[in-house]
Amino acid sequence: MAAPALAGRRVVLGVCGGVAAYKAVELCRRLTTAGARVSPVLTRAAARFVGPATFSALASEPARLSLFDDVGGEAGGPVPHVRLGREADAVVVAPATARLIGSYAAGISSDLLTATLLVTRAPVLICPSMHAEMWLHPAVQDNLAVLRRRGAHVLAPADGPLAGGDVGPGRLPEPADIVMALAGLLEAAGALRGVKAVVSAGGTREPLDPVRYLANRSSGKQGYAVAAELAARGAQVCLVSAASLEPPPGVEVRRVETAADMAEAVLAEAANAQVVVMAAAVADFRPAQVAPAKVKKTANPPPLELVPTLDILAELGARRREGQVLVGFAAETAAGPELAELGRQKLVAKGADLVVANDVSAPGAGFGEDRLSAVMVSAGSVVDLGLADKQAVAAKVVDAVVEMLGAKGLLSSPQGAPPKTPPEAPGQAEGGA
Ligand code: CTP
Repeated sequence: MAAPALAGRRVVLGVCGGVAAYKAVELCRRLTTAGARVSPVLTRAAARFVGPATFSALASEPARLSLFDDVGGEAGGPVPHVRLGREADAVVVAPATARLIGSYAAGISSDLLTATLLVTRAPVLICPSMHAEMWLHPAVQDNLAVLRRRGAHVLAPADGPLAGGDVGPGRLPEPADIVMALAGLLEAAGALRGVKAVVSAGGTREPLDPVRYLANRSSGKQGYAVAAELAARGAQVCLVSAASLEPPPGVEVRRVETAADMAEAVLAEAANAQVVVMAAAVADFRPAQVAPAKVKKTANPPPLELVPTLDILAELGARRREGQVLVGFAAETAAGPELAELGRQKLVAKGADLVVANDVSAPGAGFGEDRLSAVMVSAGSVVDLGLADKQAVAAKVVDAVVEMLGAKGLLSSPQGAPPKTPPEAPGQAEGGA
């Protein structure tokens, strides 16, 4: 299953210093057997666990440890980290230690592996392995959240025996699971090549006067996650954003403030897009008048007259291009069948292909949180996503978009079958880290 996606692909295999480094030897062998051209990059600590000669013997080129081993480059190429990073079709780091994850998240290039990670624009799969306390530490989890937000994929460690006789989460997944996840990533990476997508994100602001505005609680995280996922699958993405988050790599951002600005930008960009995802919380009303100067405090509060804004998604549904896929979100304060029914009503009312209905009143989910409690509703199906990470929701939405474009015959992907999100968690594992 893994072989077709890996055959002939250049894979940088990063190995950090941990007991689980021994599993990276088997991973290296499996990648080479699957037809990948493997470049092993070891940290100094990794070389204390497993000898570079073992990797050199199994891989397609000698294992490297240092930024300075072959400055000047082979075949006239640039310095090693630049060559490795630029030429890679994928980078997998297994095992990835807390130090490597922290350096990568902070953009610190202290060795060949971190420098290669900062150079590459290819898909990156991080396979953490460490003691349970380290894995569960908020610093490690925060760093992983940063990396995920920037488009890196993380294969969560398995539960089980760890080095030193401990038991808990932190074991490196089995090499076969890592190969499968990497193959899934490579397969997915090009699925949307040639497709233009527009994504809206954040909450619009409707000015009352030069100081005040009407707004909502949307953070923009979900829209940014969808934009990152579409870009990771090869789409050309324009993100129309009313939020000020760090833009995902490779995504063009158009900043807007009001519902009217957003309508103008989205409708213009959608005119030549195959996919539009309205993840923004757009104001339904705006003040009828915007005071030119600050409204001063008076004994009697001034009346506030509101007028409706354009429903952008409904407008997109009305002027839909042939084959265009339209996705909406529905912010609700309901759960279970009622949530799905509200999603279905918005799907029909706005002429969308897919609506992600989410319960913004669920604990730990919704506005400003990293998770969503949601169901995905389309014409023929309702998929309960439960309480899921916004990145995971984004991956499911993009899986569905790929499937819909594929069904309309609008994907040039030779694979035919839509790529699926690689697994977040592996199966059983053995051996400690
Ligand atoms: N939407 C839009 N333009 C608006 C309002 C909403 O494009 N003026 C889009 C949102 O981006 C979202 C979907 O419509 O994709 C549903 O938005 P939501 O706020 O959940 O619902 P509303 O249509 O505003 O209806 P209500 O507030 O009554 O639930």
